[in-house]
Amino acid sequence: MLINFEEYRAMYEAEEKLWWYKVLHEKVLKEIRLKFVENKQIKILDAGCGTGGLMSFLIKNGYQNIQGFDYSKDAVSFCKERNLSVQQIDITNFDDVFEKEIFDVIINDDVVYQFDNLTIKKIFLTFQTNLKSDGILISNNNAFNFFYGTHDIAVGGKQRFSLSDFEQILKEIPLKIVYYSYWSWVLSPLILTVRLLQQLRLKLNLIDLKKIKSDVVVPSDFINNFLYQIVKIEEKLLKKGFFGSSLFMVLKKND
Ligand SMILES: C[S@@+](CC[C@H](N)C(=O)[O-])C[C@H]1O[C@@H](n2cnc3c(N)ncnc32)[C@H](O)[C@@H]1O
Repeated sequence: MLINFEEYRAMYEAEEKLWWYKVLHEKVLKEIRLKFVENKQIKILDAGCGTGGLMSFLIKNGYQNIQGFDYSKDAVSFCKERNLSVQQIDITNFDDVFEKEIFDVIINDDVVYQFDNLTIKKIFLTFQTNLKSDGILISNNNAFNFFYGTHDIAVGGKQRFSLSDFEQILKEIPLKIVYYSYWSWVLSPLILTVRLLQQLRLKLNLIDLKKIKSDVVVPSDFINNFLYQIVKIEEKLLKKGFFGSSLFMVLKKND
């Protein structure tokens, strides 16, 4: 879970504006369109939907058949303010909540970092069961341990991932990664510098753990737009990013 109610509020207020969320939401939409073209009737699940920004974005883009869940009461009530169809469900134990093979798309963005690998295995196995045979699972996750910072503490982070971590986790699960991309490589030096400084300050006990906050803060319009444009240019230049603080993946069921 996120560290406190204020973090849910920060997410709720930032996710329609902050460059990072905008890029991520557009990545998800692009993959859905690539797979399902003009079909907007597809059934979508946002597993660990937080305060519902992605669901709202997809609804605005014509996908009405969408539901989500989160275990946090605060997240669910923010979703209700957006009039979304969201339930309070624990992702570590939801194998009998939905029918088998019912979803065309399951989205799981930045949730499993809170769990150990055995639990993540169980979660992905349930996704596999809930996904239609030609469905897709989209999952974005925090990447590489050297990007660890106060943000990870504020969002309840246990680990960060590389592609090989997921390959290992998925070993006995009939799911395959059909696309992946690390992002943002252009912004990596900046993000890394900020996080390394945070690590140093943490080591020196210069940070009050009770007052810790995530990086979910909207900068000025100019900077926000600048960072957004940089990542969009990066996406145009590189089909697949080789480095970055996030790992975006698309998975399908094995044939
Ligand atoms: C960093 S947020 C990501 C939210 C959203 N997916 C997004 O991309 O903005 C992590 C979310 O995982 C949720 N979460 C934590 N433990 C959970 C659990 N056991 N079951 C379901 N959701 C959980 C938190 O409440 C939080 O909303």
